[in-house]
Parts: sequence; C-alpha cells; structure tokens
Amino acid sequence: LTNQQINEAGHLTIGGVDATKLAAQYQTPLAVYDVSKIRNQIRRFKSVFEDNGVDYAVSYASKAFATIAMYQVIDQEDAHIDVVSGGELYTAIQAGFPMAHVSFHGNNKFQAELEMAVSNHVGVIVLDNFHEIELLNDVLEAHDTSAAVMMRITPGVSAHTHEYISTGQEDSKFGFDLNSGQAAKALQQVLANPRMNMLGIHAHIGSQIFELNGFQMAADKLVEIAADWHAQFGYQPEVINVGGGFGIQYTKDDHPLAPEAFVDAIVKTIKQSASDRGLDMPAVWIEPGRSIAGPAGYSLYTVGSRKDVPGLQSYLTVDGGMGDNIRPALYQAEYEAVLANDPAAKPTETVHLAGKYCESGDILIDNAKLPATKPGDVVAILDTGAYGYSMASNYNRNPRPAVVFVENGESALVVERESYADLTRLDRPYQAK
Ligand code: LLP
Repeated sequence: LTNQQINEAGHLTIGGVDATKLAAQYQTPLAVYDVSKIRNQIRRFKSVFEDNGVDYAVSYASKAFATIAMYQVIDQEDAHIDVVSGGELYTAIQAGFPMAHVSFHGNNKFQAELEMAVSNHVGVIVLDNFHEIELLNDVLEAHDTSAAVMMRITPGVSAHTHEYISTGQEDSKFGFDLNSGQAAKALQQVLANPRMNMLGIHAHIGSQIFELNGFQMAADKLVEIAADWHAQFGYQPEVINVGGGFGIQYTKDDHPLAPEAFVDAIVKTIKQSASDRGLDMPAVWIEPGRSIAGPAGYSLYTVGSRKDVPGLQSYLTVDGGMGDNIRPALYQAEYEAVLANDPAAKPTETVHLAGKYCESGDILIDNAKLPATKPGDVVAILDTGAYGYSMASNYNRNPRPAVVFVENGESALVVERESYADLTRLDRPYQAK
C-alpha cells in the first residue's frame, strides 16, 4: 500500500508498466494483474513446506480469479488448483491445466459436473455430503472407473470474519458434520466402496482470517479425527487439507500475519499433533485463493462526475463499480485508492468514491482519502485481484472490464472487454403465441 512502484514521471507502475498508459491503451474500467506477485506468493507458500520438510500441495482456490491465463500461470509455478463448478473445470481444461492437479469442490455438484470431472480424470473429488457419495458412485459405475476422493468435514471452528465468508462452524451448509457421527458414517461408506480411493480429509474454516488460533484449532482437530479413524477403522488419511482463508491487508487498519506465517503454524501444529498421537505425518495441502490473487490485482477507473453536497462528503464517481467489484456492497469490504498519475500525492480530501451503478450502495470506497481529483483522472484501487473480476456481473447491462497481465515491463490482454453485442448475444426476441 505504501511502497507502490513509481516511475520517473511520478506515475504508478504495475509490473513495470505505467498505469496511466495501461488505462490509455486498454481503456477503463480495467483489471490489471502484476504476474510476478502471483508467482512470488506461490513460491513463498511452497518454501514454507520445503523448509519444514513435509509433502504438500499448494492448491490455488481458483474461485478468487479464474481465467485461462491465470490457470496457465498457476501451472507454470507447478501449483495445483481447486475448482468448484463445471465452468471453472472447463476453463482449466481450455488452459491445458494438468487434470491430475485439480481438486473438485462444491456442496452440490451436479451429475453432469461429476461426469465431466470423472471423464477428465481430475486428481481428487472432495466429497461434501451423502447425496454426492451416491451420485459419484453412479457416475463411476457408469464409466466403470474409480476416483480419488477426500472428505470435507465441518470442524466446528468459527473464524472471526464476515458471516457470509465463514464456513467452518457447525451450522454451515458445507461438509459432513462431525459430532452427529455423519463424518464417520460417510467414511465407512467410502472405505467400503471399491471405486473410491480415500485420499484424505479436508476442512476450510473461512476467509480473510487474521488470527492463527482458528487454523491451529482446525489443524489439530483434523489430526484428532485422523487418529480416531485410525483407531476405529484402521484408516489413516494420507492428506490433511486445511483449506484457505489467509487474510491480506486491504487498508492500513488491517494487520494480518504474513500468509506464510499461517502456513508455518499449521504445518507445525499438524507435525506436533501427529507425533503426539502416534500417526504418520500426512501430506499437508492448502487452498489459498485471496492471498495469491488479491494483492496482485489493481482496478483502474476513470473519474467522471462529482457531486458536492454542502456540509457533507462529496461523491466522486468512476466508470465502474459494483458490477466489477461487488465486495464493498456485499461485505462492506474496504480498499485504498491512489491516483495513477500521482500515487504519492498527499490526500487533501475525503470523498465517497462511488460507482456508476443505479444503487445507493454502489460505493467502492466510503471514505477515500484522495488528493485533488478531476474528471478524466485515473484512479487505481489496490489489492482487488481476488473476488473482484470473478464475482463480476452485467448489472445495468454494463459490459465486464478487460483483464490485462503485466510482467517485466510488458502487458498482455488476457480477457477482452465485453462488448454491447456480447450482452445481447444470448437474448432471443419474444413473440406471444
Ligand atoms: N477452499 C475452500 C473450500 C473455500 O471455500 C475457499 C473460499 C477457499 C479455499 C479460498 O479461501 P481464500 O484463501 O480465498 O480466503 N467472496 C468472498 C470470499 C468467499 C470465499 C469462499 N471460499 C469474498 O469476496 O471475500
């Protein structure tokens, strides 16, 4: 936030390219990714595992941002992905992503999605509920094949985060419940099924988490379950997957630990707990989404209208908004913004940085501290790489922005800007019969 790169002209640079030039070349609103930040974060996660000498997978939670180019970069870094829909899986297939490195998640995978996963030989299907065990069994029978599976359980840990993005507490739609014995029953079904190869156990406690203790509790809980299963059923999970959720810094008020500090604590907890309980050390898998995609992303907007209300904070409106970043409207998420042509300028006023959508809640930054800003200026909102473009909509029939990857001073268009024709491409006229 503070040490954004600035060039001789005093402009913001992203991946070595002047942000005002990106805005001029590709137009705004524009999603820009600094690819080296993506690579670097994956490498940092990996080095934690290497330093601890454990088997691992860093599996990028691609819901944070999934495009063909992103999947290619993830594969270049030899990381895995998780997908949660046929659409994400399709995109990964189009990207040429190795299917053995794919985990398929979701609390209501359709039969067609399971067929797609099975026929493309995805690495592991993460079972979420009893209905799915039956459905997958049918699909495997029909294809006369088998598949590696993991079981998602709700560990009964509630993470201190927004309730919509907290998932590990008992009252959750995701995973098998532990205390009622559902998880043990599901395990027995899976172990008895010759078409399912039970690889391990999974839990995800939530997202944008700042504290260690939830992860440590969940990690310890997973080992405890593994020990119970070992004692009761003679089964030991090869993999313990602790999900994602590592928080990132969006504003100066956020003080998360460094993402790798979470992972280090998780690995050490599992090591200790496994050794205390006399279990073999399992492989540890993580599924970071936000911490890989978030800090790498920038949203560039052009400032348009301004409304001054005497005695109240002014509204400065940009050419995008909740259609390309719904997080402020949905979760009261906070961001910081800078002027692309003078990111170091001292703020002189606090304004509502508003979007162009027809909704009062479409405010990108409620209290944006900005220097004097005029129509035509380009504003960069920082750290928008996760759950921004991936949650974009066509509300108000605004086309979704283009996406550009920048690295080593070069930019490349990786998703074209939608056109008006794209917006009506699937529409059909209606004639009353
Ligand atoms: N693994 C599983 C099973 C998940 O459900 C999620 C996120 C992740 C991994 C990745 O979590 P991350 O590392 O990105 O925190 N739309 C919300 C976030 C929803 C997260 C859903 N699951 C937001 O914009 O904050």
